[in-house]
Amino acid sequence: MLTIIPDLLRADEVARVRALIEPAEWVDGNATSGAQSALAKRNVQLPEDSTAAREAGALVLDALGRSALFVAAALPLKVFPPLFNRYEGGQAFGTHVDTAVRIRRGSDFRLRADLSATVFLSDPDSYDGGELVIEDAFGERSVKLPAGHAVVYPASSLHRVAAVTRGARLGSFLWLQSMVRDDGARRILWELDQGVQGAAQALGQGDAAVVRLTGVYHNLLRRWADV
Ligand code: NI
Repeated sequence: MLTIIPDLLRADEVARVRALIEPAEWVDGNATSGAQSALAKRNVQLPEDSTAAREAGALVLDALGRSALFVAAALPLKVFPPLFNRYEGGQAFGTHVDTAVRIRRGSDFRLRADLSATVFLSDPDSYDGGELVIEDAFGERSVKLPAGHAVVYPASSLHRVAAVTRGARLGSFLWLQSMVRDDGARRILWELDQGVQGAAQALGQGDAAVVRLTGVYHNLLRRWADV
């Protein structure tokens, strides 16, 4: 399932994140790649332990935590600290699958990457190319969103970033472990959640059928969630 989260960051938050990361020291993007991705990846990113990445990452994490859409779609258990990258001058990231298990260097924090997310930080009119192209069962989806919007997609999917041929594309990217490992199960919960909310709006929160369906949602989550 691919979920777009409009306005994850407000315009003032995008500006704050950019003010933190733009003057920071950028390094070769292959710092976080596995051997196979390293062959395909050409970009720069902030070091994981840089102060700018930590401070800007905290803003992104805070925004994710307050997004009801993100929480309902991803059912997050653990989120890897957000990282930041920049593509320009023809840089691209060829087709790859994200590493299954992420370990934070120098700590015992680890997670299984069920979902990947990208938060767009540049105005799409300010650069050419830079689409995030994601393959799923229904074919390819090309995603290029306004600054502050995010996309969440299965980390297991083949995906790539098209070459940026004009301007620069700034982004934040992160991986997360979901309480519900299986993408299909997560999708059913999402559909049910949306259905229950629609029914609650039409019939009222206290309607007996709405209460019963809300119970089904929670009991499925109880059955499928690992916490
Ligand atoms: Ni990737």
